[in-house]
Amino acid sequence: MGRLGPWAVLIFVALVGGAMVLFRQAVEIPSLLKPTDRSVVELGKQVYANNCMVCHGEQLQGQPNWQQRDANGLLPAPPHDASGHTWHHPSAYLIEFVKRGPVQMVGNGYQSAMGGYAGVLTDDEIVAVLSYIKSTWSARIQRAHNQMDERFFEAQQKAQGG
Ligand code: HEC
Repeated sequence: MGRLGPWAVLIFVALVGGAMVLFRQAVEIPSLLKPTDRSVVELGKQVYANNCMVCHGEQLQGQPNWQQRDANGLLPAPPHDASGHTWHHPSAYLIEFVKRGPVQMVGNGYQSAMGGYAGVLTDDEIVAVLSYIKSTWSARIQRAHNQMDERFFEAQQKAQGG
């Protein structure tokens, strides 16, 4: 080994160590939604227009007075933009919510205008529509949502003893 030997070893160790940290993160935290994948977002936009827009609105703005139950005791559709709370929920919860629908999700005879989409949309279409919704959020909200997914995933791993 020449004079550079010890430095070369140090740099090598630092690079491998850094790569391992990055790799661990990439492996441990699967990203359920793909808001930066153009073809997924394009599919999601179509799924949204055909299935969700009638209630949740063309601009994802929801229905007026969405926090107040109507005469039949049902909630109007909430917005999916920054003013709503869709982005307060981890991706895994949102996927489950769209699949099963609010009636099953809440239980106890809860009534809702929204049905479940299992059997109507494929899993890929559900991921796509939520990816499209996420793609409309600001970079700041998308980051906050990524962090929530990470915390949710870590909590799940812990609960499973992993
Ligand atoms: C018939 C109207 C209607 C349609 C169509 C509809 N929704 Fe909804 N959605 C609602 C209502 C109403 C709620 C509020 C749930 C409740 O009743 O408590 C809701 C709630 C949600 C929520 C939870 C938001 C939160 O902040 O908790 C998500 C996510 C959602 N809808 C996604 C979708 C997607 C995706 C589609 C299309 C595949 C869709 N919805 C189609 C009416 C609708």
